[in-house]
Amino acid sequence: MLRSIIAGIGMYVPENIVTNNDLKKYMDTSDEWIQERTGIKERRFADRTNETTTTMGVEASKIAIKRAGITPQDIDFIIFATLSPDYYFPGCGVLLQRAMQMNCIGALDVRNQCSGFVYALSVADQFIKTGMYKNILVVGAEKHSFGLDFSTRGRNVSVIFGDGAGAVVLQPNEAVHDPSSNSESGIVSTHLHSDGANAEILAMYNPGTHANHWVKEKKLADFNEGEAGDMFMSHAMIDNAQNFPNMDGPAVFKVAVEKFPEVIIEALNANGFQTSDLKLLIPHQANLRISQFVQRKLRLRDDQVYSNIQKYGNTTAASIPIALCEAWEEGKIKEGDLICLAAFGSGFTWASALLRW
Ligand code: UT7
Repeated sequence: MLRSIIAGIGMYVPENIVTNNDLKKYMDTSDEWIQERTGIKERRFADRTNETTTTMGVEASKIAIKRAGITPQDIDFIIFATLSPDYYFPGCGVLLQRAMQMNCIGALDVRNQCSGFVYALSVADQFIKTGMYKNILVVGAEKHSFGLDFSTRGRNVSVIFGDGAGAVVLQPNEAVHDPSSNSESGIVSTHLHSDGANAEILAMYNPGTHANHWVKEKKLADFNEGEAGDMFMSHAMIDNAQNFPNMDGPAVFKVAVEKFPEVIIEALNANGFQTSDLKLLIPHQANLRISQFVQRKLRLRDDQVYSNIQKYGNTTAASIPIALCEAWEEGKIKEGDLICLAAFGSGFTWASALLRW
């Protein structure tokens, strides 16, 4: 069996920097509250009309493809992770295929929110390992700024999120002699999990086809029972802010600090490693307090955990590839280093990937 390596990596963030103080124009919040509760100082917002989730993904992909030393026409499969697609359907994968004038290759969209990139990487890894594809483009991108409630009502969610994109090119490592050895470069293993018991506590309900099927005791929107089956989006849903993400932050926080360490330890144990073997943990950038909690729990040093949420906020599916790219560009990742990617978010879904760089 082959082993997959990251042959090229790229990221893109919009130019427009939005500080915590800038958000005070729209809602009752403060720089102190946001920094103390999340660690975020600023985030980027895409141009409202000239940038989309896909166009940002394209910019990150151009860099990843160039660094891999190939052309867009060499890519033989696309996996695009996002929760903020340009269209409800079709997905961003096909829009990227068109924008980059790629061949008529397969394009798959992944909807796993914060763990979307790790899920996407895991899928790509299986295709590489089996020899099905040789150049897979894996993208994580989000344009959150277009779909958040910027009134005080939505402040617990809207101050957290930012826009951006990251991409990697995955290839088989032709130099690997022993794919079962965890000292050879490439993806060592991936670990994926889900538990839908709390699907509604971090979710955007509408537009959707749920018709209140799942949450009967507490209706997700106040609409006419008789019309429920036909109602995809109504004025009542908009009036009740059901077209924006909803989150019970403290409840998500509680599970996140349990699942992050669990899935990191799972990856290390599966391959006979200890936390001291880790050069760098790149956690999904959800909240600096979550990352600090995980660091303390696993007794990792400061230099073993990467954080850039201060600059970009939470960019969901883009957060891990952006952080991985920045860490690499800053020289914090060198050949032979053991890197762990870990994510937790809406679903709940959580995942990790262990890489030998
Ligand atoms: O990436 C996807 C996964 N998501 C996560 O992992 C998020 C996990 N959760 C969190 O990161 C945190 O729960 C938040 C950052 C979302 C919220 O922080 P918190 O410390 O849990 O605050 P809270 O929701 O318990 O709210 C505390 C207070 C409330 O006021 P009262 O009821 O105590 O008077 C909120 O209304 O803070 C208020 N508040 C705000 N105040 C100023 C909520 N949002 C804001 C805000 N500015 N933006």
